[in-house]
Amino acid sequence: MSLHKVEPAEASDDFAIQTFNLTKIFNRLVAVDGIELNIKKGELFALLGPNGAGKTTAINMLCCLLKPTGGTATVMGYDINRQPFKIKELIGVSPQETVISERLNCWENLSLIGKIHGVNARELKIRSQQLLETIGLTGRAKDQVRKFSGGMKRRLNVMMALIHNPEVLFLDEPTLGLDPQARRAIWEYIVRLKGEKTILLTTHYMDEADFLADRIGIMDEGKIVTLGTSTELKTSMLEKHTMIIYAWNLTQKVINEMRSRYAEVEVTNGTMIITDKQLDFKEIVDRLHSSGAVIRSAYIKEPTLDDVFLHITGKELRE
Ligand SMILES: Nc1ncnc2c1ncn2[C@@H]1O[C@H](COP(=O)(O)OP(=O)(O)OP(=O)(O)O)[C@@H](O)[C@H]1O
Ligand SMILES: [Mg+2]
Repeated sequence: MSLHKVEPAEASDDFAIQTFNLTKIFNRLVAVDGIELNIKKGELFALLGPNGAGKTTAINMLCCLLKPTGGTATVMGYDINRQPFKIKELIGVSPQETVISERLNCWENLSLIGKIHGVNARELKIRSQQLLETIGLTGRAKDQVRKFSGGMKRRLNVMMALIHNPEVLFLDEPTLGLDPQARRAIWEYIVRLKGEKTILLTTHYMDEADFLADRIGIMDEGKIVTLGTSTELKTSMLEKHTMIIYAWNLTQKVINEMRSRYAEVEVTNGTMIITDKQLDFKEIVDRLHSSGAVIRSAYIKEPTLDDVFLHITGKELRE
């Protein structure tokens, strides 16, 4: 298993995005603290982290919307400090705050961005149709966007990042505030782009990162504190296992016996929760059964990305 805190940076053509000690300081606040990231071409990388961790600031520097205070980064080999115009041609950005022209309709919003990027009229029509279908807005394509709900605007905003078929996509909380159907539709579309485009996304939805990402980086207080695949991150939590048993007739004798064998045993209202470094599922079930307990269900709880996130970043609220 390979969990990393930092990745040593050496410039290479295999990578779509590389950061070299990338740093942003606002007055005295260190928002991004010397991050070192190497994102491969075609990789979908999810950046997670509590509010204020520095995710948007990092993305804004990579999109050349914000100048770094120190360090640098490359996008498809171009340097963010020296070649921002080259980078802007290659990337699509869906910002955290929806940016949309309220008085234009869907077609007009898409074609505005398409034209800025030099997409020809024929391609613009085909791509707009396809993107509007993906987000279920074909029927509302000619309505002014100011009449849309927040979620509808959000969906259109994500598609505006895609209209010019960019090589690298930055999606800052793409499915924020969307209903489950719309989230699924956007996920399915993103999955279709996997391998073809390089995608850096941020999200607070752990299931989204789990479902979409090849690798996940957890950011906290400006630093990348953990990096790995979802499975690697979860496996790192397996120092302890938890078994949950719902049963009737749990006797005090068998409860005491379990307490003498395992590190933690909690019992409330017919639910027994056993936690230890090692648990033998069959042995526990057999012992409870032979004590006269009636087991309704029993399972070992697998660690979730939520568990990883809370373990790494702590449970306290950030400002
Ligand atoms: N323009 C700015 N001026 C001053 N401070 C800023 C500015 N932009 C961001 N910050 C600060 O930088 C830190 C990181 O903010 P950032 O928006 O990057 O966090 P985030 O990880 O994207 O959080 P969220 O999950 O809430 O979107 C925060 O403390 C924020 O207040
Ligand atoms: Mg943000």
